Amino acid sequence: MIDFLDLCKQRQSCRSFSEQPVEHDQLVQCVEAGRLTHSGCNAQPWSFVVVETPELVKQVAECGKQLNQNGWLGSAKAFIIILEEHAVLSPVISCFLDSQYYAKGDLGAAAAYVCLEAAAQGLGSCNIGIYDRKKICELLNIPVEKQFGAVIALGYPSNNTIRSKKRKAFEDIVRFV
Ligand SMILES: Cc1cc2nc3c(=O)[nH]c(=O)nc-3n(C[C@H](O)[C@H](O)[C@H](O)COP(=O)(O)O)c2cc1C
Repeated sequence: MIDFLDLCKQRQSCRSFSEQPVEHDQLVQCVEAGRLTHSGCNAQPWSFVVVETPELVKQVAECGKQLNQNGWLGSAKAFIIILEEHAVLSPVISCFLDSQYYAKGDLGAAAAYVCLEAAAQGLGSCNIGIYDRKKICELLNIPVEKQFGAVIALGYPSNNTIRSKKRKAFEDIVRFV
């Protein structure tokens, strides 16, 4: 069994995917990990669109090539798009907080679970932060007002080298009291 911290180190943003296809069942496992994510009041304010049809994958990749960024997306073999859904909070909490108060954090957690499951399977993944949301909605028959939690590109990495992580120093951001 892989140590969880080792998996965290193994997961890295992949920006070059090999020609090896991703199996449908691997994508099922990734969204299953997303589905199991914890969320505020267990509201689960998400749904998942898995893009695996090659022609649609190509078209979604084009939508992510914005501002001269993400030219490498053409090598992606699949996408998992996490949509923000209405959250029903517990009655006590909903008196004080907007229904979507926890949703952004919940969606970020779900995206992390998806990417970590991908890494556990030897797949590469990369969150995409800029994309033509309206065009993706049109392509995938998603209501145009729907907010996206994450767009995640997936495939087998063309290079398996694990880079060292560029992160703030532990002692600079952690305080034990
Ligand atoms: C919300 C979000 C949006 C991102 N958008 C992009 C993107 O559009 N293009 C890209 O190449 N990487 C993108 N990344 C990847 C980050 O650059 C990357 O996670 C960060 O540099 C840390 O590197 P690592 O994922 O390899 O550990 C995004 C990551 C997140 C979480």
